[in-house]
Amino acid sequence: MLDEKILNVLRHSRDSYVSGEELCSGADISRAAIWKHIEKLRIEGYEIEALPHLGYKLVAIPDSLIPSEIKWKLKTKVFGRSVISYRKVDSTNIIAYELAEKGMKEGTVILADEQVKGKGRHGRHWSSPSKGGIYMSCILRPSIAPNEISRITLLAAIAVAQAIRDFSSLEVTIKWPNDIMMGQKKLCGILTQMKAEQDSADFVVLGIGINVNVPIKQLPKGATSIKEELHHRGGKINLSRVELTKRVLERLEEYYNLMKSEGFEPIIDVWKDLSVMIGSRVKVTLRGKTFEALAHDIDPDGALVVRTESGVLEKVSSGDVVMIR
Ligand code: BTN
Repeated sequence: MLDEKILNVLRHSRDSYVSGEELCSGADISRAAIWKHIEKLRIEGYEIEALPHLGYKLVAIPDSLIPSEIKWKLKTKVFGRSVISYRKVDSTNIIAYELAEKGMKEGTVILADEQVKGKGRHGRHWSSPSKGGIYMSCILRPSIAPNEISRITLLAAIAVAQAIRDFSSLEVTIKWPNDIMMGQKKLCGILTQMKAEQDSADFVVLGIGINVNVPIKQLPKGATSIKEELHHRGGKINLSRVELTKRVLERLEEYYNLMKSEGFEPIIDVWKDLSVMIGSRVKVTLRGKTFEALAHDIDPDGALVVRTESGVLEKVSSGDVVMIR
């Protein structure tokens, strides 16, 4: 907390020195304690110059997914107002789930620089190399029935896709239900987990993994990263994970509030605009059978409706769907 206060005073005077006295009164801290906190901030990667008669100047800020960076100028009321970040964890979803069970409030975000047991859908592993991506889990407490959980998944997909578009100008699309794609390659995955009573969700953990600066050789087959895609287009090389994380949180809050005030229909509309799935041929595995069909629509709960070759409409909510090129 004190570190954050000191940082905020320094941030307000970027490019100029803040005297020790100003820092003490601005951050409400004793002169003797300042040095200890400045050293701690330096260890976290902040470059702070200290000159005897001038005071302190913030020279460079690290791209670290730490609370003070995420919260700085974050335009949300709920999402990311409480942030817990780690260097290395098994999985941010596991931590978020445990904290949610202990009553942690809606909007709490767990972030990590690296995951050793990153969880993907269908029990798969999610490759999470150190500082290459955004590995984040958000605690939500929506008023939904357990069978409406795909609403949250779809909502998260549009929020992340929009955030990446805002941030990088890459025209990413969504593959049902929640893969964010650049062309045929996957850039981001979303894993929603829920604890529910009989007829209502207790909480939802929304796990988001975005390949930001991961070099191609560290990515699994069929995956790509924002850095890689921009590189092909002659763009900027290393992107700020902090800025993208903030944008994702802002978009999440925007769509979450939209769903609360206007229902799920506007979310489906945005999803359809961003999706490449509707109207394309898909291979569906459902109830142990694999067949080809046409992706027809998204139903009001967020399930994919496919039209089989015999014209029957089938709702696909748990079967795996593969697009046929
Ligand atoms: C998928 O298989 O597409 C979903 C991948 C979800 C990965 C994210 S990374 C942050 C969060 N913690 C995890 O262990 N998984 C999710």
